[in-house]
Amino acid sequence: MRALWLLCVAGSMSVLGCSSAEKASPKKADALIEAKVRQLMAKMTLEEKVGQMTQITLESFAKSGQDGYLVLDPEKLRDGIVNHHIGSILNCGGQARTPENWQEMIAQMQDVATKQTRLGIPILYGIDSIHGTNYVLGATIFPQNIAMAATGNVGLMEKAAEITAMETRAVGIPWNFNPVLDLARQPMWPRVFETFGEDAYIASVMGAAYIRAQQGDDLTRSDKVATCMKHYLGYSMPRSGRDRTPAYIPDRELREHYVKPFAAAVRAGTVTCMVNSSEINGVPVHSSEFYLTDLLRGELGFEGFVVSDWADIENLHTREKVAKDRREAVRMAVLAGVDMSMVPYDYSFYDTLVELVRDGEVPMSRIDQAVADILRVKFRLGLFDKPYPNKNLLGNVGLETSRKVNLQAAQEAITLLKNEPKTLPLAKSARVLVTGPTANLLSVLNSGWTLTWQGDNEALYPQEKYTILEAIRAKIGEDNVTYVNSVTFDEEKDIAGAVAAAQNVDAIVACIGEPAYCETPGNIDDLTMSEPQLKLVEELATTGKPIVLVLVEGRPRVIRTIVDDVQAILTAYCPGMEGGQAVADVLFGDVNPSGRLPYTYPRFAAGFTTYDHKPSEETRENPFHPQWPFGHGLSYTSLVYRALQADRSELRPGQTVAVTVEVINTGDIAAKETVQLYLSDLVASVTPAVRQLKRFEKVDVPAGQTRTVRFELGWDDLAFIGRDNVPVVEPGQFKISVGELSVLLTVPEFAK
Ligand code: GLC
Repeated sequence: MRALWLLCVAGSMSVLGCSSAEKASPKKADALIEAKVRQLMAKMTLEEKVGQMTQITLESFAKSGQDGYLVLDPEKLRDGIVNHHIGSILNCGGQARTPENWQEMIAQMQDVATKQTRLGIPILYGIDSIHGTNYVLGATIFPQNIAMAATGNVGLMEKAAEITAMETRAVGIPWNFNPVLDLARQPMWPRVFETFGEDAYIASVMGAAYIRAQQGDDLTRSDKVATCMKHYLGYSMPRSGRDRTPAYIPDRELREHYVKPFAAAVRAGTVTCMVNSSEINGVPVHSSEFYLTDLLRGELGFEGFVVSDWADIENLHTREKVAKDRREAVRMAVLAGVDMSMVPYDYSFYDTLVELVRDGEVPMSRIDQAVADILRVKFRLGLFDKPYPNKNLLGNVGLETSRKVNLQAAQEAITLLKNEPKTLPLAKSARVLVTGPTANLLSVLNSGWTLTWQGDNEALYPQEKYTILEAIRAKIGEDNVTYVNSVTFDEEKDIAGAVAAAQNVDAIVACIGEPAYCETPGNIDDLTMSEPQLKLVEELATTGKPIVLVLVEGRPRVIRTIVDDVQAILTAYCPGMEGGQAVADVLFGDVNPSGRLPYTYPRFAAGFTTYDHKPSEETRENPFHPQWPFGHGLSYTSLVYRALQADRSELRPGQTVAVTVEVINTGDIAAKETVQLYLSDLVASVTPAVRQLKRFEKVDVPAGQTRTVRFELGWDDLAFIGRDNVPVVEPGQFKISVGELSVLLTVPEFAK
């Protein structure tokens, strides 16, 4: 057996990469808060405690609502907050609300909670601000997380997160159910666009940056919110590709990939965690003490509170069939480690849990632990001192400065996949045919979690925002643009018309992809792009005119059969409310594309392989040939890497190695370049990934200039999850690669 360098658990890192010194510790952060929690808990009845563990959706309190305005029913509010003592309310009540309406509703809830209940505990309101403040009319709606990952720009992610926190808190909402830290390793899954892609390192870096930016170092601030790492864990790998169906993930694979972003989120100090709706290896996560207590709290050191996902406690009985009835489901979930139930429509959880405690089936100690964790977050948010929204903050919503950050994010996300011969950028004097189902809609640019849950209500979208077609017309003049409504996602409309119109233009911009969707409604049975869209491009190719394919999609749909028919391809993912403008900026050269694929783009609609696959998946017999590899992204200029160097050739525990590389812009167009550093463990006791991303940094490289980028790797970066499921570093050779360059690093044999 090869000598192993086991990571010392005491000093350097616990089994999953979090050192005790490193992670934030809300419990100890403020002794004053601990005292307040204890004092309040001492006064609370069982019913009041269980009420704090109960979360009900906004719709349950609505009297009426239309045009972005919802009126609450005082009697329903009283029944929930006074009679059932509920501590949390969530969601948007069906569609986005005006900032004023949000403030009025939150104030009405807090009135009842703080003035009509015995202890005056404020309500904790939670919302899905998944890609900006998507449920607030007039607020900033950013590219979806998948596109933010493609930017490779951590600073931009932090700015977007800060803006989202500022706008969310401005309307009176202190809790955001984000970031999504699931890994998009099953490309059919309908929630790929909510993630930061397939790689654990990008998800860890972007997720931690998001959390630090949204929470800051003082949750009472009027521009910060509590975050919620989700969906813990293993949710994104359903074997069928269909949402909320079983994942089969061996423990070693779970720890090598899926756990890491959540470990990073705990270190970044996230104060809440939402549970995966589904199961891993036959165990629904909502029912698992191992996942929710032993791993989450014991190994990762999470100290916040755990909220269920939508109706997922009763789903243990109604869908997963691991609980014989709803009472058993409540008992199972609460004992496993769920602190708050997103019930969300009724008081069944409340009634049942009070009964279970009375019958001695759930100990009061478990209730006290859950309620203390919940109250701690409410105190840390300052809700007891300031439960009401602040009207002076309304001016923070929809700032022009925020729109500019949004546009930059969309521009930097766009990823150029093909450009042969150099068809892009198009000349602004070009006559252009624009066609395809994603050309003239705002909903497709935003997709789910936008103004409504599904994001597909085009009528609600702000008409002043540009679709791709409108942005192109604005940029090169209406006279230069012909538009034909040739196909929808599912039907041919007028392909012949598009082919005919192509005769009179210099170039064709074909915008294809996916409609808006969210969660299970976005399930598909085939990753291939829809037939009418493929046929449109095939027919357009017969014209001989250069075709630029623009992909607007939440996940990488297979387009193998048309890739050779077109000269240029870019993907905008779901680029957000400024996405139309950003696409036009890239198409006509006002922006040099700099996005990098955060997922492997499949060539076929089966047999998906991620970039960090095993050696046996990249052989002559089993070639690895995706349509485009993870990390792929072209530029309008040429960028050359040179002089990759490491300041040491051997590494021992506690040491670091500095790696530098030069990036040269040999062209005449300024570029932004995300430099990615990969590591390959050449031989290991567990089949090693052929490469793993370990660092990335985005740099500006002006035309004709050279930039030197420096990375530092430490001992932990060489670790993998060993045969006994703990991180280990083994002696041997490692290859550090950047672009086509590489250097070797040796870990010497273990000194006897
Ligand atoms: C949904 C989603 C979750 C979201 C929650 C509240 O079902 O799975 O991501 O935060 O319900 O809207």
